[in-house]
Amino acid sequence: MVYRVGLIGLGTVGSGAVKTLIQNADQVSRRAGADVVLQGVADLDLESDRGVDLSSVPLKTNNGWDLIQSDDIDCVVELIGGETIAKDFVKGALEHGKDVVTANKALLASHGAELFQLADRHGRKIHFEGAVGGGIPIIQSLYGGLASSKIREIHAIINGTSNYILTKMDEDDRPFQTVLKEAQELGYAELDPTYDVEGIDAAHKLALLASICFGTRVDLKQVYTRGISDITIEDIHFGARLGYRLKLLAIAKDLNGEIEVRVHPTFVPARQILASVRGVFNAVSMYAEGLGSTMLYGRGAGDLPTGAAVVSDIIQCAQDKTSRRAIDYSNFYTPVKAVRPMSEVETEYYLRFLVQDNPGVLSKIAGILGGRNISILSVLQTEPSQNNQCPVVIMTHEAKEGNLMQALEEIHALDVVLAETKVIRIEKMDTARA
Ligand code: HSE
Repeated sequence: MVYRVGLIGLGTVGSGAVKTLIQNADQVSRRAGADVVLQGVADLDLESDRGVDLSSVPLKTNNGWDLIQSDDIDCVVELIGGETIAKDFVKGALEHGKDVVTANKALLASHGAELFQLADRHGRKIHFEGAVGGGIPIIQSLYGGLASSKIREIHAIINGTSNYILTKMDEDDRPFQTVLKEAQELGYAELDPTYDVEGIDAAHKLALLASICFGTRVDLKQVYTRGISDITIEDIHFGARLGYRLKLLAIAKDLNGEIEVRVHPTFVPARQILASVRGVFNAVSMYAEGLGSTMLYGRGAGDLPTGAAVVSDIIQCAQDKTSRRAIDYSNFYTPVKAVRPMSEVETEYYLRFLVQDNPGVLSKIAGILGGRNISILSVLQTEPSQNNQCPVVIMTHEAKEGNLMQALEEIHALDVVLAETKVIRIEKMDTARA
């Protein structure tokens, strides 16, 4: 059997997928149980040198619809990104009876309900391994080796760019903007890098993971999302002195009926494995009943890692063609669980206040926190500057977010508190049950 692939979008991931298809051609066909052939490519720019030889590809076009409408193509690979034209292409491919491979997390997180329903109606598949965690085989693991496990918690580093930036700021003392530029040059960042640094890309990926793990549709707007653009080296260093590393963590919990889904900068105890995930690497740590803790780790962005994930999806599609494996997509369009409001979320906090170093300041702040049932774990104060101003860092025990926000409002009204307080959540992750 020949299995014919049409690939739309020859950007970073598209080129990586073509390279993988060419370099590993024998293995790909052997594992697919079919002769996998790159039948067509579509891109607005077919002239630029991407380091791949396309001379043997029969159909080269500037118009993706030529591939979608072709009878010579079995599987459409959408790698243009975005939510408009890409959505039309994916819908068109499904309607033309083709399976789809995509790495487009934004598209699936925002329009998954419609697209997976359409796939089910047409008896087609959408494979999207490259959409989450780059080269990490997280999606196929959830549908495969982890399919029997009830996953209750996810703690994940799933934006390579942010992790790269936080790592370089910490280790090399380099400023945010310089490291971001480097991540863009390395092909890690999204076309619009605010998706990376404001947590949106991680939120897209978390919505997909939580939906599969918890069997419920998760809308992007339900994911509480904060990024790393206002993180300072000062906070990273304070955290380090207290035994923590700062990560942009994507967290999802199934709390018996309610779910929690949030992405934000988070202090993680330095002894935790997640704290050691450096650079562009991603990791998804999961806790499941019975199974306990398990973790997948690998390169979360870049042409060849993500390209490899895309080609694995093509192999899945080819395998499906002969023996249609059933994949249950109903989680993407069946809302069953409520999302816990952020004000009800309970966690520990790092608070950095900038105060006038006068007698009684600390007791005023502590009194307000205590009045809202927020208990202090430790306090760190450094030497005041020449204006008698100084940062005071307070770590709290677990507290309700709603109570903390009310307390901060009161604290900010004190005239000795000189600036907006930096709040970073802490996630201990219970290793005792690992
Ligand atoms: N911009 C993404 C990241 C690419 O940095 O993780 C992989 O999805």
